[in-house]
Amino acid sequence: MTPLSKNIALAAAATVFTSVAVIATPSKSHGQPAGSNKNAGTGNAASMSHPSSEAKATPESFVDALNFAFGKQTTQRATHAKGVVLIGKFTPSEQARNVSQAPHFQQGVPITVRFSANTGMPKLADTAPLASPRGMSIKFHLPDGTETDLVTHSYNGFPTKNADEQRLFFIAVGQSGPGVSSPTPIEQFMATHPAAKAFLTSQDPPPVSYATLSYFGVNSFKFTNAKGKAKFGRYQLIPEAGRHFLSADEARRAAPEYLTDELRARIARGDARFRLVLQLAAAADKIDDPSIAWADSNEQVSLGVLSISAFVPDSVATERGLLFLPGVLPVGIEAADPMIQFRSKTYPVSYERRQNP
Ligand code: HEM
Repeated sequence: MTPLSKNIALAAAATVFTSVAVIATPSKSHGQPAGSNKNAGTGNAASMSHPSSEAKATPESFVDALNFAFGKQTTQRATHAKGVVLIGKFTPSEQARNVSQAPHFQQGVPITVRFSANTGMPKLADTAPLASPRGMSIKFHLPDGTETDLVTHSYNGFPTKNADEQRLFFIAVGQSGPGVSSPTPIEQFMATHPAAKAFLTSQDPPPVSYATLSYFGVNSFKFTNAKGKAKFGRYQLIPEAGRHFLSADEARRAAPEYLTDELRARIARGDARFRLVLQLAAAADKIDDPSIAWADSNEQVSLGVLSISAFVPDSVATERGLLFLPGVLPVGIEAADPMIQFRSKTYPVSYERRQNP
């Protein structure tokens, strides 16, 4: 393990350790940690059961694993707990209609956008290493009154290939508190899952802005146009302002909430804009494994532009009532990776827990 990866694993473990102490006295059965944390020195081993050896994840057991890793949920999301909500519009390109007959690829629509920090820790500083990857979730409000959502993050990949492995990843994180002897469960997981190691050790530094990051849909969709022609692709969101990050010195001086302050100032000057791009699958690309990024040389199609123009008046209340569902799709777009439907069944479990903490 490189010193860098060790630091990141320790940072993860240290934060998780605090969270484990928080979830030691839950008031409800949901969110009960699965791990014993026997060696973590919390003194809570008696109140925790061993991790379920169940290999197959369910939406409930997945959210239990997130709550185990990051702490008992209150009014916030099980992951990507810290966020801000804005509004704007999406304008499709001419090429978009050749890709899919989806309604928002034919005409402009209003959008709701939520930017977020990684992990289920709502008070995480924007400069914390664990805050990356950042999230960008988009709700397209379609002309017939229905909605379709796109939920992305600022890393081109994912720690594991499917939901079952991803649940084990979060359990390993939750079991790797300080005092746990090396190799900790997360170190062991990284040793056998190179994509998880890359995810934990190669995140970007804190960005200048939520609007100076690229975001990736990671999961693959099938797009069908009005002539019945189908393509497989993955979404990318490219910032018109370019990709920019803080220097180490700037990051040290940045306030814990600097990203929200920066975005307010930016939006006051003008819209934050992103190009929505579809990266098309090449013949040999795996459609159903989001842990493997496709080559940058793959063909891309510009689908349109998102212009984000204003904060909602009450971001905290709005985000609590807001639920993004990655698998609710209009005609012309279908899930091509089973993870998408699993995500869509799991987000409502977290939603329910944050309405009834
Ligand atoms: C096994 C796969 C996954 C599962 C089970 C899962 C689960 C969850 C859950 C339970 C939430 C909280 C939802 C809520 O309370 O509303 C969430 C939020 C989120 N996830 Fe995932 N996730 C998965 C994969 C991904 C991937 C591949 C990405 C990025 C490409 C991603 C990005 C996000 C973001 C950005 C949010 C915040 C959504 C918001 O703004 O409301 N997740 N995820």
